[in-house]
Amino acid sequence: MSRNPLNIGVCGVGTVGLATIGILRDQCEALLARSGQSMVVSHVGARREHPDHDYGDARVSRDVLDVARDPDVDVLVELIGGTTVAHDLIKLAIQHGKHVVTANKALIAEHGNELIALAEAAGVQIRYEAAVAGGIPVIKVLRESLAANVVTEVAGIINGTGNFILTEMSTKGRAFDDVLSEAQALGYAEADPTFDIDGTDAAHKLVILASLAFGIPLSIDAPMKQGIQEVAPEDLEYAASMGYRVKHLGIARRTEQGVEMRVHPTLIPEHKQIATVDGVLNAVMISGDAVGEVVLVGPGAGGAATASSVCADLVDVARNPAGSGPALGIAAAALQAPSWVPVGDIASEWYVRLTASDQSGVMSDITQILASRDISIESIIQKPPAPESDKVPVVLLTHVAPQSVMTHALNEIMALEEVDADAALMRVEAFDR
Ligand code: HSE
Repeated sequence: MSRNPLNIGVCGVGTVGLATIGILRDQCEALLARSGQSMVVSHVGARREHPDHDYGDARVSRDVLDVARDPDVDVLVELIGGTTVAHDLIKLAIQHGKHVVTANKALIAEHGNELIALAEAAGVQIRYEAAVAGGIPVIKVLRESLAANVVTEVAGIINGTGNFILTEMSTKGRAFDDVLSEAQALGYAEADPTFDIDGTDAAHKLVILASLAFGIPLSIDAPMKQGIQEVAPEDLEYAASMGYRVKHLGIARRTEQGVEMRVHPTLIPEHKQIATVDGVLNAVMISGDAVGEVVLVGPGAGGAATASSVCADLVDVARNPAGSGPALGIAAAALQAPSWVPVGDIASEWYVRLTASDQSGVMSDITQILASRDISIESIIQKPPAPESDKVPVVLLTHVAPQSVMTHALNEIMALEEVDADAALMRVEAFDR
């Protein structure tokens, strides 16, 4: 016996919204075969008129809340973004008994605890595969496929725009602003690309991954955050000359001290798989006690890739209208807050770039300060001076030291008369501890 169509309300008709409508239209036969139910976009919420868009036979509303109120809509797809209208919309959809599919990482990271609890109480699903790492099915993997594991670490490149910018800068010597404009034109960047650049977008995604990995509530204030705007072209070059690539990583790690969560540019040995993940690709490494290490690589942004995840969620809703388990893997009420490792205690190896006068005794002063704080140096290299400069770049790699110890030492070094006060400091992660 054939089932009634699954009526879908799509709110937001930007890059991802249009690509979702396109896949639902173009792949309708395949989606019916896989889900057992035909999928129809019955209502579109678009706050502005777009004469060039084709929504088929769908009803169109300027007030997106009308989609949530529409009794014929079974699933509301929220692709507006942001945490204001989208928040109201999803709450209203849940109140009206609709399942929700969203790509909105900011909303899930900030308000997911509330929204998921509401959805659980209402007996509807809230699915968000597209919210993290675009087309990579990482939510499903953590929530379902690795359910047998105690996960100790989730780490990866989780912002496509940032990876695209760093890759183009390091491999082609292109300027930051030029590459960012291209990322915007390609539909990779957020409406406000500040979130891609300053690490906010990656932090949102890391909060979601950590919750799934460790069974903890979504903890928006937990991650330490540094963006790619702090990476100078010369740091990419110096890192490469020492056998490293610079990637912007999100890392959530469970240690004996508690959980650490951080987002920052990182030097990675060039032989590690993740160091070779370039362009808009994302990569997520998951360490589980039973499975070992799993690495997922794929497109982290872009309309079609993200819509692929949205449509996969819709297929899941059609296949399992009663749901396939809690949205965060564990029921909202059973998630347990962890203790957090203070940022200053998070230890790693370090890359330091200083600018110093080219005179005797400076290197010795620098190394003595590091030794006095028990920071062991792996290598120290004096680079040639920039044209018409009497100062030289000094590049250091250290062994493991906690952040607070490293920053105190660096402040002391920068207070030396012969050293400029604008050093670069980045963590080095070999992922072998
Ligand atoms: N702006 C995001 C990125 C889109 O570049 O990764 C996908 O979340």
